[in-house]
Amino acid sequence: MLNIALPKGRLGEQVYEAFARAGFACPSIRDNSRKLIFENSETQVRYFWAKPSDVAVYVERGAADVGVAGKDILLEYEPEVYELLDFGLGKCRMAVAAPRGYADNAQYTLRVATKFSRIAKHYYDSMGRDIDIIYLNGSIELAPIVGLSDVIVDIVETGTTLRENDLEVIETIVPISARLIANRSSFKFKTEQIERLTRELRRETEAGP
Ligand code: PRP
Repeated sequence: MLNIALPKGRLGEQVYEAFARAGFACPSIRDNSRKLIFENSETQVRYFWAKPSDVAVYVERGAADVGVAGKDILLEYEPEVYELLDFGLGKCRMAVAAPRGYADNAQYTLRVATKFSRIAKHYYDSMGRDIDIIYLNGSIELAPIVGLSDVIVDIVETGTTLRENDLEVIETIVPISARLIANRSSFKFKTEQIERLTRELRRETEAGP
């Protein structure tokens, strides 16, 4: 059995379709239920629905052999996993945003609200800019509006959340998309199975839905 952790939600469903087309179907997964684990002994796969930000934990610790995680999570937590494939799905970007018309004053420490502390720190370290990181769990866009921070480092997909809150992107830090990751020792012991999966998924990804 190959244990596969998928991110619960719309992205996970899209990604599952790619796995199914690649020959790793598990039809029971489409049952409308609250179950979290589905397996198919014919195709030798067992799927788990995990919270998207937790997929890399399951894979790093070997509870899942492979999984699908956003590049944002891989950059932020730097899990010790192999990154095997870019699905080109779930595309968005990590960006710095601020209230419209905001001008940075390099004399002051910049207050940065984010849930991606490591990404923010690396980014500003590379520019030699002193920052004060304000860690938040969500609704990051609120912080600069109410004066909790000067800027935010967050994910921008359509840009709607920024626009509707009078914020704008100042800098793009890095493009983000969903990646296939593998546990390091699973890759050693299930090499053939994981390489076949990667090869078939790459073929599917290149062919498109
Ligand atoms: C994410 C992100 C932005 C928003 C960007 O938040 O943190 O707030 O989506 O998408 P957009 O550019 O299409 O508007 P999410 O919905 O995951 O919730 P959160 O605020 O709890 O992080």
